[in-house]
Amino acid sequence: MVDNGTKQTIETMKWVRWLWVVVPLMGVMLYLYYWYPEENIGPQQPIYFSHRVHAGVKQINCRFCHSFVDRSKHAGLPVMEKCFFCHKYIIPDHPQLVKEKEHYESKKPVQWVRIFYVPDYVKFRHEPHIAWGKVDCAVCHGPVATADRLRQVNFQMGFCINCHKQRNAQIDCWLACHH
Ligand code: HEC
Ligand code: HEC
Ligand code: HEC
Ligand code: HEC
Repeated sequence: MVDNGTKQTIETMKWVRWLWVVVPLMGVMLYLYYWYPEENIGPQQPIYFSHRVHAGVKQINCRFCHSFVDRSKHAGLPVMEKCFFCHKYIIPDHPQLVKEKEHYESKKPVQWVRIFYVPDYVKFRHEPHIAWGKVDCAVCHGPVATADRLRQVNFQMGFCINCHKQRNAQIDCWLACHH
């Protein structure tokens, strides 16, 4: 026979045993919920286009696809035809490229999900930043060349102003940056 004291100790020990299971489990759940890397990737695009593969592994120049970046307001997205400069020969049977091809042949542009934008009242042009300012794409867009899916960066006012101060660019923004 066991006395009450021992019984209690045994009960407690059962609980302690469970803690070994429960605590790590909660840890895993918290990790999955808050820190799991996938949690932080950008929106899924209609065609799984990867900057990591193209700009990273294959080292294709940003300007090959975003051709207007140093001469216009917008960097521009590549026209569908451009994909097939390469993909007519490279993995043309990849399911994602078959899908891209259907778009191309039916002339239905791919509806890429827009990631970076500034409010309408902000006047932003790429050209001066690239052509005169020599600002690297990654300063504003983050590590594009290592990302499969691009993540949004929040362009608060301070983001523009801080750099303009550092770089001695104009900060007379109410005149210059806003319409
Ligand atoms: C082979 C073509 C190609 C190359 C090379 C390329 N991109 Fe792209 N880029 C795209 C396509 C297609 C999209 C639209 C799909 C997407 O957002 O992933 C895009 C989207 C983007 C966007 C997001 C636009 C938005 O706001 O929705 C940024 C920023 C960008 N690219 C920057 C870069 C930079 C910086 C490089 C070089 C390091 C680069 N790209 C190289 C094809 C390319
Ligand atoms: C300058 C050449 C070039 C251009 C332009 C290009 N790609 Fe690619 N793409 C490649 C190469 C090289 C690979 C890697 C092929 C391999 O892994 O064998 C690739 C791989 C891919 C893959 C498979 C990626 C994976 O996960 O394995 C997809 C999908 C793709 N490209 C879509 C596109 C789309 C959509 C466009 C147009 C917006 C485009 N590519 C433009 C060269 C190009
Ligand atoms: C000084 C910051 C800055 C730099 C440097 C920069 N961008 Fe951008 N980019 C932006 C902002 C801000 C937007 C959103 C513009 C809008 O909403 O009109 C944007 C939008 C884009 C887009 C979306 C579509 C478009 O045509 O505008 C692409 C693609 C892009 N950038 C590519 C590039 C590439 C490639 C480079 C480097 C050669 C680059 N950017 C350098 C700030 C920058
Ligand atoms: C990383 C640094 C950096 C960031 C971030 C940045 N800029 Fe600039 N900006 C520059 C530089 C450098 C110049 C060119 C200055 C020169 O050479 O005159 C410039 C020039 C400009 C000009 C003047 C171009 C002209 O037409 O005369 C405007 C307007 C402007 N930026 C708006 C913005 C806005 C809006 C944002 C935020 C979305 C922004 N910039 C973010 C560095 C930056």
